[in-house]
Amino acid sequence: MDEADRAVKGEGESMNAMNPPERSDTASAAPSCVPDAPRMLTTTVVGMARHAPTIVELVLAHPAMPDLQPGQFVHLRVPEGEAFLRRPLSVADYDDGTHTLRLIFRTVGVGTKRLSAVRPGDRLDVFFPPSGGFPMDIVPSGGRAVIVGGGLGVAPLLYLAKALNLRGVRVRARIGFAAVEEVYGLERLSAHAEVELWTDDGSAGRRGRVTDGLSPEEPFQALYACGPEPMFVALKARFRHDGRPMFAALEARMACAVGVCRACVVPVRADGGIVHRRVCRDGPVFPLQSLVFPGEEEWA
Ligand SMILES: Cc1cc2nc3c(=O)[nH]c(=O)nc-3n(C[C@H](O)[C@H](O)[C@H](O)COP(=O)(O)OP(=O)(O)OC[C@H]3O[C@@H](n4cnc5c(N)ncnc54)[C@H](O)[C@@H]3O)c2cc1C
Ligand code: FES
Repeated sequence: MDEADRAVKGEGESMNAMNPPERSDTASAAPSCVPDAPRMLTTTVVGMARHAPTIVELVLAHPAMPDLQPGQFVHLRVPEGEAFLRRPLSVADYDDGTHTLRLIFRTVGVGTKRLSAVRPGDRLDVFFPPSGGFPMDIVPSGGRAVIVGGGLGVAPLLYLAKALNLRGVRVRARIGFAAVEEVYGLERLSAHAEVELWTDDGSAGRRGRVTDGLSPEEPFQALYACGPEPMFVALKARFRHDGRPMFAALEARMACAVGVCRACVVPVRADGGIVHRRVCRDGPVFPLQSLVFPGEEEWA
């Protein structure tokens, strides 16, 4: 059992996954599509690929796969191991024709290493929490959206770009990685968006941070982001006085994933103050400007 498992084991055991509490009904939770009820399925691994030594892609199938929206995540049981808690991963694609779900993840610890060892034909136990997705209705057909992704944060944006594009939205994607070896999803994203690639060391695309070339004058009806915290901080600062809708998909350490244990709370600005919201149940997508990062508590 790893450190995170030990920290929250008791709370995780007592949660009732099939009767999750309601989402917090405030402006700090992004309006979005939420599935009717959580579901648990034993899926079959039908595809597995390695993009880089530590970046793995899995495709899972099940005939009763629920309709998954961009921005939502699934909670996977780690096969055969000491990892007691499930691990959350974003939906990188969902195909309702083949009933397949695509996940892309980095192997960072015991859970993701075990998940990276599965092979086609293996079974994986997947829980589908009633999380919210990226609100897409706010961009009309013919409108423009900007998506900004950093590192593994690009994974959910692949599905978002596809879904927006299918709705007739023109998508401009800026994606950033540490170096060329870390780049993935470029081809898939280019099928649905005009893509600008950035790397920290200039080994692919433009050299610098993904937020460097982003102008506040950029035309869009909505901006969507997923990536590391410094990327959100830079985006928030760049668009601080911009009233257009902007959304960020967050990560947090999770246990129950249904809003019971509060392992995943983050501070957000709401109702004139700072409150705590659960990434699993109230998110993982939040309005970007509502997020409060370390040192920002005093912002007006
Ligand atoms: C809603 C959501 C969606 C996510 N989507 C993806 C995705 O699409 N692709 C992907 O690669 N990862 C994603 N993550 C992160 C992923 O869940 C963690 O990397 C994974 O749970 C780590 O498990 P582990 O057992 O391998 O690592 P552990 O042994 O638990 O931890 C290893 C290291 O990773 C760090 N870590 C673990 N979990 C997180 C976390 N949630 N956030 C930040 N650091 C963490 C730990 O602090 C430690 O340093 C997502 C997380 C959330 C909450
Ligand atoms: S993980 Fe338990 S409340 Fe979010």
